[in-house]
Amino acid sequence: MSFAGKTAVVTGASSGIGRALAVGLAKQGARVGATARRADLLADLVREVRATGGTIEAAPADATDQKALTAAIHELAGKLGPVDLLIANAGVALPSGADPMNVPGVEEMMRVNFLGAVYAFEAVMASMLARGSGHLVAISSLAAFKGLPGSAGYCASKAAIKTYCEGLRIELSARGVAVTCVCPGFIDTPMTKQNKDPMPFLMSADAAAERILRALPGRPGVYSFPKAMRILMGLARAAPDRFIAKRVKVRVASTDGSSK
Ligand SMILES: NC(=O)c1ccc[n+]([C@@H]2O[C@H](COP(=O)([O-])OP(=O)(O)OC[C@H]3O[C@@H](n4cnc5c(N)ncnc54)[C@H](OP(=O)(O)O)[C@@H]3O)[C@@H](O)[C@H]2O)c1
Repeated sequence: MSFAGKTAVVTGASSGIGRALAVGLAKQGARVGATARRADLLADLVREVRATGGTIEAAPADATDQKALTAAIHELAGKLGPVDLLIANAGVALPSGADPMNVPGVEEMMRVNFLGAVYAFEAVMASMLARGSGHLVAISSLAAFKGLPGSAGYCASKAAIKTYCEGLRIELSARGVAVTCVCPGFIDTPMTKQNKDPMPFLMSADAAAERILRALPGRPGVYSFPKAMRILMGLARAAPDRFIAKRVKVRVASTDGSSK
């Protein structure tokens, strides 16, 4: 499947991986719908894409507000045509270990990382089912494969959307709608800028978007990358808890997301 002439909507398109996906899709000839909360950054994205001849529309919305997100996605579909590809990418990463616990942070991550993706899928589901075609994609994380100290809530939110995608994928397999869960390793974006811990095999948002867009036409159920980080996570899954505990440093984190 080429993206040329397709309508693709990306949530969390104002920065990082989502922005790079929007730019990459437009370069490949897709009609791109972009949504996120920060309207000013979406306006910059629209200017950049249009300056290079791409087709893009933006509709700001908070992914945790189902009514607002649905209205934004329907507005984009009204301008660009029925959505062929929906990438639920909006996400937040907040400290979510045990000492201190960060219940508001865990709630926020479940709202954005899990429910935000469910809301985005719901906004296009009826149309895709009626047409018997479409592709639903969630940007999860390799963190979905292993609960990690200090990030238990983040890992849980990413595991939730991964498992949700699996159920949808099997249910929709005979109905023409593909479902892909993308699980990246460490990507250099505003999300990881504050991270002072080692980030093995870190890659740029542009490189990550390029890989994702290369993989999606094959409609994989799960696409995890880079390979070296996928192998490392596989080893982490098999490793005893005390081995992980020694190697993953837990920062003393405040509930506003900063860490020291
Ligand atoms: N960076 C990594 O190492 C990494 C690794 C694996 C997976 N991921 C996942 O990749 C996705 C993109 O992250 P990123 O690294 O590109 O981070 P980022 O640059 O911080 O981008 C996050 C995006 O999500 C949007 N967002 C956050 N909360 C939102 C809300 N309530 N409503 C609507 N949009 C919201 C932000 O837009 P606004 O603030 O404008 O709303 C922004 O566009 C996330 O799901 C993240 O968990 C990242």
